[in-house]
Amino acid sequence: MKQKIIITGGTGYIGSHTAVEFIMKGFNVVLVDDLSNSEVSVLDRIQEITGTKPLFEQIDLTDNNRTKSFFNAHKDASGVINFAALKAVGESVKKPIKYYHNNINILLNVLENMENQGISNLIFSSSATVYGLPDVLPITEENQTKRPTSPYGNTKKVAEEIIEDLTKVSESLNAISLRYFNPIGAHDSLKIGEAPNGIPNNLMPFITQTAAGIRRELKIFGNDYDTPDGTAVRDYLHVVDLAKAHVLAFERLISNQSKSNFEVYNLGTGTGYSVLDVINSFEKTTGISLNYSYDKRRDGDVPQLYSNPNKAQTNLNWKALLTLDDMTLSSWKWEQNLRNGY
Ligand code: UD1
Repeated sequence: MKQKIIITGGTGYIGSHTAVEFIMKGFNVVLVDDLSNSEVSVLDRIQEITGTKPLFEQIDLTDNNRTKSFFNAHKDASGVINFAALKAVGESVKKPIKYYHNNINILLNVLENMENQGISNLIFSSSATVYGLPDVLPITEENQTKRPTSPYGNTKKVAEEIIEDLTKVSESLNAISLRYFNPIGAHDSLKIGEAPNGIPNNLMPFITQTAAGIRRELKIFGNDYDTPDGTAVRDYLHVVDLAKAHVLAFERLISNQSKSNFEVYNLGTGTGYSVLDVINSFEKTTGISLNYSYDKRRDGDVPQLYSNPNKAQTNLNWKALLTLDDMTLSSWKWEQNLRNGY
């Protein structure tokens, strides 16, 4: 019997890549998404990659009645991977209630229904933003979490605290929170990848859209940081490496290897690259010269954020394998495929 797992936000960027990895490992995957930031055609594309079309339900998980019937129909699931969330940092600053309402209510409904149906294993999709402005680099899981610089980021921090509180009293809940650094790139098949609505907020899709002529110019936010070239440093990791970590973390949960019923892991390569490093890699791997200029720092950005990923390597046997060049080239190939209708 295949183990069933529920993936919320399963048609989104990271959710779809994770669905592929779980299907390839022989899991029976059920995706749920409200399709507010993804397309239903992702299901056919997952089928083209894996040979299996996952079960799918279009549900707004802030609606607890619908969430209840969904969980009732899938009470045989062995766990949940919770990606469903709004994620536009800038929008969250302008509309905090929308972000707290959506991201926190989804989590509460998922937790309540897991508890009611006796589903114990949860992977939560968190972010390095929970470290705020870090005192120590590279960041280990021992770094203190701090007030993130946006309401979006704070939904991740509060969500982790809610899960941790619940694991202290719940008889059954067994959770792992995965703190992603900066996921970029796309699946090798070029059937799935990041497809932001409107003007991208994040660096990589802005670069690929500029190269494709959709945006006139990339603005580099700040060149006066205390970093080797003055531009901000991040820990970029390939989304396929990231997706694989979810399978390993889930296997740790179901085989009861966790040392406590709430564990956190950094997921990054451990190497920091500046905005200029990313641009240089993109120009080298694609042969395209990118139109860019310098602008002032973006509010809420921290100068440097990169991980020490050793805990994930030791406990999950996970290591990011793909390089920055792999990531920038794959992002570009995906952008072209996306524009050509996959
Ligand atoms: C942000 C969020 C993070 C979230 C991630 C993915 C914060 C502090 N960070 O990461 O929680 O998980 O997005 O949604 O809330 N840059 C430019 N020009 C651009 C765009 C970006 O120079 O047009 C620079 C930024 O200043 C930054 C780097 O590129 O230094 C990466 O930016 P971005 O891709 O937006 O990710 P983060 O802000 O690191």
